[in-house]
Amino acid sequence: MEERLQKIISKSGIASRRAAEALIKEKRITINGTVVTELGIKVDAMRCTIAVDGRIIAQEEEHVYLLLNKPKAYLSTAKDDRGRRTVLDLVLGIALRIYPVGRLDYNTTGLLLLTNDGALTNGLLHPKQEVEKTYVATVKGRIDETALQRLRTGISLEDGVTAPAKVRMLERTNGLTKIEVIIHEGRNRQVRRMFAAVGCDVRALMRTNFAGLSLDGVKCGAYRLLTKGEVDRLRLLAGLLR
Ligand code: URA
Repeated sequence: MEERLQKIISKSGIASRRAAEALIKEKRITINGTVVTELGIKVDAMRCTIAVDGRIIAQEEEHVYLLLNKPKAYLSTAKDDRGRRTVLDLVLGIALRIYPVGRLDYNTTGLLLLTNDGALTNGLLHPKQEVEKTYVATVKGRIDETALQRLRTGISLEDGVTAPAKVRMLERTNGLTKIEVIIHEGRNRQVRRMFAAVGCDVRALMRTNFAGLSLDGVKCGAYRLLTKGEVDRLRLLAGLLR
């Protein structure tokens, strides 16, 4: 959240608002090491380091970004009152309070991002951003072209008609069919409900891609940190960079 610099300084307790203005005029305030010369500027104290006479009064919050390959039978919430395992049980050695970017069902596997960056999370999940997610559904038996076409054009669910999806058949083996579905919406149990609506029984569901990120090199139950380049790309997709 952006606030006037003098307000941030006065909230830190080192000076009144008026005295903070004097500090700015006297060029004693720096933001990320650069002296502030303008009186009225607004900044987000969580996203920069502000110092008075070199003494830090507000520091950028440290953000962490993980890509997890979620196994079956893990909840994607931070806690469970019934004592079930959550995805956070898979992440060791991260001292910061992270949480999942959206949810995967208890028995859905695959790509789940975890972070403590609230702005990025909100942006990636905002319907306006239309961030793409790819799922592979394994369904029992066969699925005909009419059903595939219905999945593509939109399915009427109790919370409205689904947006057009990209759907293709991947393989058919041992009485099971694998279908890839790319959607940008993120409604609760959306993919399972879409298949149920066309009479298909989903036996397994895996998210293989989220916002252009894939599971390459990340085994089931394992995770990796995102690179700076990947985080910048996510910021762009989340509408945080112009
Ligand atoms: N759609 C579903 O039905 N389940 C998930 O976990 C994700 C998308």
